[in-house]
Amino acid sequence: MLLIHIITALLALVCVLQETQAWGYKNGILHNSIWLEQAAGVYHRESRKGRYQLTFKEAKAVCKFEGGSLATYDQLEAARQIGFHVCAAGWFDKGRVGYPIVKAGSNCGFGKIGIVDYGYRLNKSEKWDVYCYNPKSKECGGVHTDQEKILQSPSYPDEYPDDQICYWHIRVRYGQKIHLQFLDFDIEDDTDCISDYLEIYDSYDDVSGFSGRFCGDDLPEDFISAGNVMTLKFLTDSSVSAGGFRLQYTARFHSTVRP
Ligand SMILES: *[C@@H]1O[C@H](CO)[C@@H](O)[C@H](O)[C@H]1NC(C)=O
Repeated sequence: MLLIHIITALLALVCVLQETQAWGYKNGILHNSIWLEQAAGVYHRESRKGRYQLTFKEAKAVCKFEGGSLATYDQLEAARQIGFHVCAAGWFDKGRVGYPIVKAGSNCGFGKIGIVDYGYRLNKSEKWDVYCYNPKSKECGGVHTDQEKILQSPSYPDEYPDDQICYWHIRVRYGQKIHLQFLDFDIEDDTDCISDYLEIYDSYDDVSGFSGRFCGDDLPEDFISAGNVMTLKFLTDSSVSAGGFRLQYTARFHSTVRP
């Protein structure tokens, strides 16, 4: 399982590593350290097995499960224009595959800006990620820039739903660190936290800075980021749910003296 995780991470790295100078626009404002996970009702999902694991049929089911549908080209482009930038190809409407690029990078998007379009795929068994559209989608992750905030699993305090992948990207002011404090924690317990889990990444994405995977009902210890960004990833499989989690993050300035 660890091996699969490493391989998946390495594959993702090929595409994403070049993006560590992250940045993005939201509501017309340039943010210097994160890309948007959702914009104009469009969001990106990967399979719970990792990147590039969804056939066209499965991709449609993923969107439908969350009450949405496959994004159209125009919806994806509208989201891109307000900063939706994802370095991962996914299915969208009518069996087309592509991804939205806002800023040209040498290793992602062939230096192009716009929708990188792989066209209508003849082979619907090919496996990609997916771009869904649902202007009323429920709170599941997002980009958070407040100085402090409570974050919780979808539907909390009720049990969380099955088949979720949520990303919370936290970005506070330059020079600040993020203090994470768990207030409540109850995620389906198994030996290696394979079924459902919460992961902490000491970076703005889930590629670098892996800092722990948690399940069960012990409160994880407080966590302090190294820099001013952090990512939380919550993944649930298709069976067995639990009460979920609730945590608080607080931004604090640290006067660290480095040797
Ligand atoms: C379609 O794609 C799948 C997955 O990549 C592959 O296994 C299969 O051989 C392809 N079929 C054709 C006819 O190319």
